[in-house]
Amino acid sequence: MVDTSDEWITRRSGIKERRISSNLERESTCDLSTRASSMALEMAGMEPKDLDMIVVGTVTADRQFPSAACMIQMSLDANNAMAFDISAGCSGFLYALTVVNNAIRCGTCRNALVVGVDRLSSVVNWQDRGTCVLLADGAGAVAVSSKPEKGGVLSTHLRSDGRLWELLYSEEGNTFTPEILHDIDQKSFYLKMDGKGLFKQAIGCMSEISRDALKQNGLTVNDLDLVVPHQANIRIINALANTLSIPVEKVYVNIHKYGNTSSATIPIALDEANREGRLKKGDNVLMVTFGAGLTWGSCIVEWTA
Ligand code: ACO
Repeated sequence: MVDTSDEWITRRSGIKERRISSNLERESTCDLSTRASSMALEMAGMEPKDLDMIVVGTVTADRQFPSAACMIQMSLDANNAMAFDISAGCSGFLYALTVVNNAIRCGTCRNALVVGVDRLSSVVNWQDRGTCVLLADGAGAVAVSSKPEKGGVLSTHLRSDGRLWELLYSEEGNTFTPEILHDIDQKSFYLKMDGKGLFKQAIGCMSEISRDALKQNGLTVNDLDLVVPHQANIRIINALANTLSIPVEKVYVNIHKYGNTSSATIPIALDEANREGRLKKGDNVLMVTFGAGLTWGSCIVEWTA
């Protein structure tokens, strides 16, 4: 479709494979999210009826309204949950987790589902080689509960700078319109990105907000057992590790398998790390992200599961 090569993509981004949802009967934003949510609930030993809150970080809900969260609630039959979306670009998952953590801490809810999902393939211009080789589709979910024991989410830090909105934007909202994938004339739906500008911002923003998180918790990088960064580019991840002096073996990377799935990269990586046995009770996990807005954020979790 575009003048590119596997060699260029691998060297400049670290991506080898991606997943693109093509069958909207079975792979809509709601379908991907429902499957991830069911896996999270099963692992947590929770039933959908136990949920009192579903918060979804996404910029590609199937429809502009109702929210992706309401569609997921319906699919799960989670009738006791309030449900809404958060739009914070690739930072959507950490923004959603922050809202849920605060709601739990002030007693608004006890059991919640936090979902990060995006189908960026529906807003990509497949003739723009600067973006169409990087972005992909995916969903991840985390079940969060109020528990008396120590640990869990230790801190969250979020920032935004709307002055930098033009680094990554879509002129119009996405809708549940499969023809966008094929009708390359619908230019107004396309995502537009200043890759170099984002690259520069990403490293500074993520390292600063990681330091804020460490400082608030009285921790140093030596106290971290795993870092789960947003998977946008392997060079950004390596530069972040280098800036913070974090050994690469402590940094979870799966960008080579999935590309940049926006709000889904962190929960997918967290789930894979967990299923691979990389997390044990008491581990300190730093999650850190940046995305359209500009938005960025960090969260430190003491793993309790
Ligand atoms: N294949 C081949 N050549 C390409 C491609 C491609 N797919 N894309 C660009 N090029 C060319 C350019 O035209 C340029 O050629 P020139 O030197 O003749 O002008 C050359 O490769 C270098 O281009 P750069 O843009 O300088 O490449 P760079 O090393 O900056 O890598 C990239 C580009 C991968 C986009 C990088 O800047 C990046 O990852 N930026 C961050 C993007 C990001 O994080 N986006 C998401 C943030 S929010 C979210 O996650 C949704």
